[in-house]
Amino acid sequence: MSNYRNVFTLDEFRVSEVRNFPMATGELSNLLRDISLAAKLINIEVNKAGLVDMLGDTGTVNIQGELVKKLDEFANNQMIAVLKRGISCAGIVSEELEDVMVFDDEMSCKSKYIVAFDPLDGSSNIDNCISIGTIFGIYSRKSTRGQPCNEGDFRLEGKNMVSAGYVIYGSSTMFVFATKRSVNGFTLDPSIGEFYLSHPDIKCPEKGRIYSVNHGNYYHYSTGVQKYLDHIQQKNKEKESSYTQRHVASMVADLHRNLIKGGIFLNPATGAFPNGKLRLIYECNPWAFIFEVAGGKATNGKKRILDIAFKDLHQRTPLYIGNSSMMKELGVFLEDDGGLVA
Ligand code: F6P
Ligand code: MN
Repeated sequence: MSNYRNVFTLDEFRVSEVRNFPMATGELSNLLRDISLAAKLINIEVNKAGLVDMLGDTGTVNIQGELVKKLDEFANNQMIAVLKRGISCAGIVSEELEDVMVFDDEMSCKSKYIVAFDPLDGSSNIDNCISIGTIFGIYSRKSTRGQPCNEGDFRLEGKNMVSAGYVIYGSSTMFVFATKRSVNGFTLDPSIGEFYLSHPDIKCPEKGRIYSVNHGNYYHYSTGVQKYLDHIQQKNKEKESSYTQRHVASMVADLHRNLIKGGIFLNPATGAFPNGKLRLIYECNPWAFIFEVAGGKATNGKKRILDIAFKDLHQRTPLYIGNSSMMKELGVFLEDDGGLVA
């Protein structure tokens, strides 16, 4: 990309999509632009966090019972601000808010989308300069436009998703989003503050060799998961395979890498989290949407993540996600748990 002016910026890409699909209203496209602005604002603060009193906790505990970091709060406020000021979002759900937020001004009421997000994922890594990220899912509202969203609109389900994406604040900052057609990744050029299309039409390779799991919890996992992990190590021992373990414990970093290189990520149920740790609406559904568009799979061990019924805004689920062949291999072991994957 030495002379990358022939590469699309995010805005140029948005315009080209509108040109290619003249029926599009541009609403989704506006929403993505709004979120990309929040991404830039969060990126700046993440980059200089140690210098501007942005590390550490706020002293409050969120609905999840987790200590809220200063950067969590900052990121949450940026996301809310851009979506509220924009004209394409009728309401939001955030990991940091106990309840939904309805935008009831005239323009927002006319919008057809609800955005659910985890403003800053990977909290345990925030204070240590390790990659963290923002995750978002864009859902269609069910009620007629023109009125503020109602309770039913916020019963968010995978089948109502139209787009999902994430921002990774890593060695580069990338904004990646999926529509039903494709997944595209944009890298931030910090010198001019523009995202450029660096990863067009991302496909998760059919085969992979990376597995990402918190091995420390091995004895808390189900028999099927334990057998799968034993199997992987056994195959390596016998030199039949060369699996390799990579686990950052920042979902965005682990899944971004696995999406590009091929690999599997497991966050199973444990004694401490009998229903799984990760949240369905703003963590697992977005990632499942992205992986499926890219050719991968995502399940809770029994069914497709995107088919899980809504129970509450902050419901948790086990998550198994990755390239199709590794998911298939895992599925054989999860049958021991009475489940079915892939
Ligand atoms: O949001 C939860 C999270 O921070 C994810 O980013 C990460 O993958 C997970 O927790 C790590 O959990 P564990 O320590 O149980 O592996
Ligand atoms: Mn999270």
